[in-house]
Amino acid sequence: MKARHRRHFLLDPEVGHLNHGSYGATPLPVLKEQWRWQREMETRTVEFHVRRQEPLLREARAPIAKYLGAELDDTAFVVNTTTAMNWVAHALPLGPGDEVLLNDHEYGAVFRVWRVFAAERGFSLRSAPIPLGADPLTCLEAHRNERTRAVVVSQITSATAQLLPVQQIGAWARGRGLWSIVDGAHAPGHVAVDLARLGVDFWMGNLHKWLWAPKGAAILWVARACQELMKPLIVSWGVEPTTALGEPDWVAWVQMQATRDPSAFLAAPAGLEYQRRYHEPLVERYCFQRMHWLTQRMEQLGAQPLPWSKLKMRAFELPFSAEPTRLHQTLFEKFRVELPVYRWEGILLTRFSLQHYVDDQELERALQGVSDARVGAGSL
Ligand SMILES: Cc1ncc(COP(=O)(O)O)c(C=O)c1O
Repeated sequence: MKARHRRHFLLDPEVGHLNHGSYGATPLPVLKEQWRWQREMETRTVEFHVRRQEPLLREARAPIAKYLGAELDDTAFVVNTTTAMNWVAHALPLGPGDEVLLNDHEYGAVFRVWRVFAAERGFSLRSAPIPLGADPLTCLEAHRNERTRAVVVSQITSATAQLLPVQQIGAWARGRGLWSIVDGAHAPGHVAVDLARLGVDFWMGNLHKWLWAPKGAAILWVARACQELMKPLIVSWGVEPTTALGEPDWVAWVQMQATRDPSAFLAAPAGLEYQRRYHEPLVERYCFQRMHWLTQRMEQLGAQPLPWSKLKMRAFELPFSAEPTRLHQTLFEKFRVELPVYRWEGILLTRFSLQHYVDDQELERALQGVSDARVGAGSL
């Protein structure tokens, strides 16, 4: 199959971008919208920052909130998921004697956030192993104890590309009096998200991964009942606004952070528009069919596909041993593909992200790279 709409992207035609999952890829129509906002900002700088920015941000958030099934006042723009996780860790009143439950699929930076807050505030962390194919709820329950106060789970895990049952985990947490925190970094534009019905306490997700927004656009959603827990992490004008913003306090704290470029937020609705216009009808045909084909080819090379729930990402266990950074570099230098290689729980994995802009030749080059690495594994 040929790539579609490749002309919408600034991606280097020499390099196969098979790692959409890490940073996304912003289409030109969305970048143009971002540049238009930057131009507006530079044309009438003071007016833009002083009078227009706050109402514009509220306007830009509205279609995104609707798409995510959320009330506008329960959402705030943040630059990325990691930042949102910091706000949540800062908000929760945790201290000595308390424990936060994560699991071995959680993202490295998220672990770091919790480790730093835990060390500072004196609470502890526990990571529940969730073996591939095991029931996540059973694994979490096995590691819950009387000190557990909160659970942190990814909606779609990063290294293993697993779709976790966050709605059930939310209900489980609620039934045990735990706060549920969902890292939805990969969810918007990738799986259906209905925040009002999800039944969790905190959720955050990137718009710049699968919803085509410019880099630096994400949403933090906080359940009504938990909004009173929020407190400023960055202290700026939003803490005591001098003009009426029309935003709830917690949103003003999170969003109004001194002088910064809000163009990625303002262009986020263009990402949503792009998704609706070009991508949604193509998902089945281009991404899922290709994933089946790719899986067969990887299996022929001896790679073991990890469980898959119709995502545009799938991880594979590589059938040889190699130093991940070196193999990643070889795939880039010799085969001109950007394909992540890493270890998870001691297993050597690679993860393919498929989008409509991916070309079969790029996939063939990646497969050749994996094949060559298998043959020459000893030297890698
Ligand atoms: C599951 C998960 N959580 C959080 C993040 C962090 O995203 P960001 O770097 O945009 O904060 C990522 C990034 O890939 C991720 O995969």
